[in-house]
Amino acid sequence: MTQDELKDAVAAAAIDEIAPFLERDTVLGIGTGSTANLFIDRLSSLRHDFQGAVASSEASAERLRGHGIEVFELNSVGSVPFYIDGADEVNAHLHMIKGGGAALTREKIVAACAEKFICIADASKKVERLGEFPLPVEVIPMARSYVARELVKLGADPVYRQGVVTDNGNQIIDCFEFMIDDPVAMEARLDAIVGVVTNGLFAARGADVLLLGTESGVERLT
Ligand code: 5RP
Repeated sequence: MTQDELKDAVAAAAIDEIAPFLERDTVLGIGTGSTANLFIDRLSSLRHDFQGAVASSEASAERLRGHGIEVFELNSVGSVPFYIDGADEVNAHLHMIKGGGAALTREKIVAACAEKFICIADASKKVERLGEFPLPVEVIPMARSYVARELVKLGADPVYRQGVVTDNGNQIIDCFEFMIDDPVAMEARLDAIVGVVTNGLFAARGADVLLLGTESGVERLT
């Protein structure tokens, strides 16, 4: 199977996971990226079974609206039973690196509000140790150089993601050569650097369920 076919298989599995729980007033949290896009496309056939969605990016919001799914502001929503999103890396504890699509801050906010985070990923995303994928850090633009110097002190090789402005008007630094032994501690440590808006470690609030697309089928890990 191709990587896209594996992504589509987990998108379909996520639909099966949430469909029995959809009610007319359900608002879903929806992530960003190619796997989330496949999920959005499949969700369109269920659009009359739930109220709408909160999106973690302008791109996902636009795609949802394109399928006739109403998009709500998070501030106007009471509860979010499910957040469905992809990942750049995920470990056995369902800690993740996210933000390859620069949507990490809104992803983390919607995930924080959700009762259940369902991570959908093809098998290439499953790792023993997080960090092979460069860890994204969203920064306030004027703090970029300062934050980069602090990241060097922590052992990272920080690279400014040129030409990318997040939906929040900020910039992204990618941390190369930065293997992470304790994701929960490192997530807190990075967030404590002045000027950091969010980092792409999703460990304090990891996924609750991982649907992993493999050659032998979709594995469900909790
Ligand atoms: C975007 C993300 C995505 O979930 C992550 O990059 C995975 O993307 P894809 O499904 O395209 O592999 O965190 O900010």
